[in-house]
Amino acid sequence: MSITLNSPLDMHLHLRDEDMLKTVAPLSSRDFAGAIIMPNLVPPVDSKEALLAYKERINAAIGNDTFTPYMTLFFKPTYTKEFLASLKDELVAIKLYPAGITTNSEGGLSGFDVDELRPTLDAMAELNIPLCVHGETNGFVMDREAEFVSIYEMLATNFPKLKIIMEHITTKASVETLDKFENLYATITLHHLLITLDDVAGGMLQPHLFCKPIAKRPEDREALRKVALEAHPKVMFGSDSAPHPQHAKENCGCAAGVFTSPIALQVLTELFMEHSNLENLQAFISGNAQKIYTNITVPTKSITLEKKPFVVPAIYGTVIPMYAGETIAYSII
Ligand code: NCD
Ligand code: ZN
Ligand code: ZN
Repeated sequence: MSITLNSPLDMHLHLRDEDMLKTVAPLSSRDFAGAIIMPNLVPPVDSKEALLAYKERINAAIGNDTFTPYMTLFFKPTYTKEFLASLKDELVAIKLYPAGITTNSEGGLSGFDVDELRPTLDAMAELNIPLCVHGETNGFVMDREAEFVSIYEMLATNFPKLKIIMEHITTKASVETLDKFENLYATITLHHLLITLDDVAGGMLQPHLFCKPIAKRPEDREALRKVALEAHPKVMFGSDSAPHPQHAKENCGCAAGVFTSPIALQVLTELFMEHSNLENLQAFISGNAQKIYTNITVPTKSITLEKKPFVVPAIYGTVIPMYAGETIAYSII
């Protein structure tokens, strides 16, 4: 039996730059019809020139594949309505990072002052530009996302017309917050549907499973699985595939990020099959995102999978993928 997925979308993706971009971009453009491209380069993508030039580099790296890079800017409270309006056709979302909370986020926001944020967030709401948020405080590592919920609530209340995407949610508390505000949505990664903190640090430390936010408790994973497997209309797939070279992961001081793009569709198919929810995968992988991001155009593309063993390569360029060297049950044919 073969399974067809129409125009799969990855609503949270890191493609990096230079050699890394050349290694990883074709792996996403082969399997997906489009992706929201994160702006946390060094320096961050925070100007029109940087955004347009990065888009060109991405398009060069993907060759002839049918794949649309949906570009984002690194949030700054100084963006004006005129500036954002001038980028309207190129800019799909803006990504907000609290300062220093994750990879390359040093230039992020150091406080959430509504009056300071208002001009930019009002302009985004008027221009139908969603705000994507890495929602963690700098508190105790297991509590950071739960502590950020009050900031999501403050943003959702003060900016009711702004679409706010809670990126890569990892907790039951975030899942429960989703339904409380009409304008809150979320992305869920593959790895947070699969692993808990035990897989990262319960035995020998697994650097290739270390990411921000850190994987949480079994009950958190259960809550994420429930809304993903039922394709709750406010959640969508966002891999947060975040490649780092092997030396940066297998190091005293491990970079945060799990590299999943080359196995994402295969393993999601297996997960949805196992739970007899295959009919919901299309909505989770594309349909919901198209209803949430009403500002994107999605190219037609179909991906076919079969239950056929696939041996995951040990390394792609300099990056070790999740399940490196292991055999997974589904293949893209
Ligand atoms: C991401 C990265 O490496 O850019 N890392 C991660 O652990 N998820 C940044 C991010 O999405 O927070
Ligand atoms: Zn993040
Ligand atoms: Zn990310």
